[in-house]
Amino acid sequence: ETEENLEPRPPVVTVMGHVDHGKTRLLDAIRRANVQGGEAGGITQHIGAYQVWGEHEGVNRAITFLDTPGHEAFTAMRARGAVVTDVAILVVAADDGIMPQTIEALNHAKAAGVPIVVAVNKIDAEGANPDKVRAQLTEYELIAEEYGGDTMFVNVSAKTGEGVRDVIDAVLLTADAELELTANPNKLARGTAIEAKLDKGRGSVATVLIQAGTLRVGDSIVAGTAYGRVRAMLDENGEHVEEALPSRPVQVQGLSSVPRAGDTFLVTEDDRTARQIAEKREAAERNAQLAKARKRMSLEDFT
Ligand code: GTP
Ligand code: NA
Ligand code: MG
Repeated sequence: ETEENLEPRPPVVTVMGHVDHGKTRLLDAIRRANVQGGEAGGITQHIGAYQVWGEHEGVNRAITFLDTPGHEAFTAMRARGAVVTDVAILVVAADDGIMPQTIEALNHAKAAGVPIVVAVNKIDAEGANPDKVRAQLTEYELIAEEYGGDTMFVNVSAKTGEGVRDVIDAVLLTADAELELTANPNKLARGTAIEAKLDKGRGSVATVLIQAGTLRVGDSIVAGTAYGRVRAMLDENGEHVEEALPSRPVQVQGLSSVPRAGDTFLVTEDDRTARQIAEKREAAERNAQLAKARKRMSLEDFT
């Protein structure tokens, strides 16, 4: 990439943490604080990926958020070498304190070299002890700025909305301080499938995060072993869009089958190339499975 091709792109932020510590509700609160000209309550949310616009230090900026149900989605994607996250928000419930999946989540983020912002959530709840969360996390080398470390901790209540703006500010400050977020929008798009499903009426529906280039309706695409042409693209509000820039998550219709979370997504010059790449990948997967089965059988011969 030559430098003049690179343009700023929004940070991609993954929300992680122990089950029921408030990841989804915090994201709802963030959306509510930022959705302009529309009541967030009225938004039909099918996908766990969306872009939010908000003002930060007088500038209107976008952030892409990925919700993770528990921590499995992040684990699966990491295992497939598809780290899509720029910043992780580690949500810890202040009444519960750190739990096993809190530690797993922070280990995943650390292993991937992703900077972490800690959202100490549920500060409104009875028995909330945000300082205890800070103390607990020092043992895992997440040391709050006020303790002399360099990790931003934010006290928040997804329920009352207190501290929600501070979470957004902390994410942007961390992104600006630690990362150079750019991508070239002027080429064929590539990215990662975040989630996908088979929809009765619409067929294969895949949420993809664009990481470089621009995706357009009509483009020939491959995602894992699925291929096809973008028939329609929807944003997080279910609105049709004609194109998607880097860091944008969109729902794509038109694939031949359902890709897996973490699958590489790319646009090809034409339909034939897309199909060939998909078929090659499929053959490679079949061979790998055969090899595994043979190995298992030959081992069984000995037992
Ligand atoms: P999983 O996706 O299942 O891992 O859970 P999650 O982390 O997304 O938690 P979720 O947002 O579903 O919230 C779990 C419960 O905690 C729900 O009953 C929320 O209403 C509640 N909750 C979330 N945030 C707060 C908060 O700030 N204060 C209080 N009192 N309750 C909260
Ligand atoms: Na939950
Ligand atoms: Mg959730």
